[in-house]
Amino acid sequence: MRKYVWGIPSLLFLASAVLAPFALANQQDEDKPKPKPKHTIKEVMKEAMKGGLLKKVSGGEATDDEKKELLDMFISMLENKPPKGEMESWHNLAGASALAAAKVVVGREGGAEELKAATNCKACHSQHKP
Ligand code: HEC
Repeated sequence: MRKYVWGIPSLLFLASAVLAPFALANQQDEDKPKPKPKHTIKEVMKEAMKGGLLKKVSGGEATDDEKKELLDMFISMLENKPPKGEMESWHNLAGASALAAAKVVVGREGGAEELKAATNCKACHSQHKP
């Protein structure tokens, strides 16, 4: 019986010794984007912002697939770390774009107007474009 009672704390000790490196590794990974975003910021800029997809969606001329494609790219944009600027500002600006694109996808009223306002090129570039 005595042996059994001692067995539990030593098992717990063993478990924490085994799990500790994993907990540490998780903590260190916290600053890194994870998983690797599907598109880079540059790809999103070229294809969505400059390439005309955004205009099509905010102008109300896009198909459902095109709206989803824009949302997919904006999710990637948000998952990336910008080359310049604070993460808090990035989360606000890129997050507002992704949220507005999501509203368009689900057909919320005013979504397109919100998308136009959220994707202000200059406002974001002045903070995050090197
Ligand atoms: C939410 C932030 C954000 C918004 C909104 C935004 N951009 Fe950008 N843009 C960036 C960042 C960050 C970079 C720099 C990317 C890099 O160098 O890795 C960039 C770079 C670019 C580039 C250069 C890409 C390259 O290959 O170097 C172009 C072109 C561009 N943006 C066009 C636009 C246009 C047009 C709009 C508005 C319709 C726009 N962007 C809106 C964040 C934004």
